[in-house]
Amino acid sequence: MVMKILVATEKPFSKQATDGIAAIAREGGFECVLLEKYASVDELKAAVADADALIVRSDKVTAEVIDAAPRLKIVVRAGAGYDNLDLTACTARGIVAMNTPGQNSNAVAELAISMMIFMARNQFTPGTGHEISGKRLGIHAYGNVGRIVARYGRALGMEVMAYDPFISDAAVFAQDGVRMASSVAELYENSDYLSLHIPATAETKGSINYDLLISMPKGATLVNTARKEVIDEAGLAKAMAERTDLQYITDIAPDTAAELAEKFGKRFFATPKKMGAETAEANVNAGLAAARQIVAFFKEGITRFQVNR
Ligand code: 3PG
Repeated sequence: MVMKILVATEKPFSKQATDGIAAIAREGGFECVLLEKYASVDELKAAVADADALIVRSDKVTAEVIDAAPRLKIVVRAGAGYDNLDLTACTARGIVAMNTPGQNSNAVAELAISMMIFMARNQFTPGTGHEISGKRLGIHAYGNVGRIVARYGRALGMEVMAYDPFISDAAVFAQDGVRMASSVAELYENSDYLSLHIPATAETKGSINYDLLISMPKGATLVNTARKEVIDEAGLAKAMAERTDLQYITDIAPDTAAELAEKFGKRFFATPKKMGAETAEANVNAGLAAARQIVAFFKEGITRFQVNR
């Protein structure tokens, strides 16, 4: 029986990416089936019923979905953050879960930089704005995206500082011309623009709180291309109410988006739908990498990007 790779993307990849995925599947002897813009979990459950492999984006792969997929051996999140995969449920079933780190990072980094300029220029409406050159850019977490944002920030004349809880060697930052902050507090206190690149985990959820936000310099802008869950929304609203100079721009609409928009006007902006990785290039890079990882897993047992070891 031909093994089936299901590509289930509520937010579809570009055609170039799905054609590329299908070609890799075909060459590997797999069948490739697309489920795009699906409207319900039931549709996803029906589609995974005979899938041996699954490629998703931010689609939620819950225990319920896994239960509906008796043949499933591997799930690849075509992207970086895998908080949408129930890893415990995958592991319990012996399903390998992977991501494709780095493949869409440039797209997200470009969006983060453009968001800074958008806010510095009054959301592209008339009036005197600011330049980001010469301003202090803080990078919270120095992974694939954070490093590119740091590089682009420096190219634009920004002074860059970064903090990463897993990197304590200042040389890692210094080689990129970036200063290491010794604590999260130091980073926020010294950032005119703060670009968030932390994953959503039990430790980070709600961690960007009132105390950090209120400590930011006058006129500071928080830029979120990471996850909405890392923000303590009540703390954010309180800080923005007390500090009429603080700004927040995000690629992941907060639960309280309508309230924030009403209260803070142009100091707040949320994209209508997460678009950080929405470039043809990122779709191709992440989608094709996911397909290749699946073929390499079945043919050669390669589990290099497994996240549920
Ligand atoms: C990621 O974690 O890779 C990004 O958030 C992109 O998510 P998306 O595939 O839903 O656009």
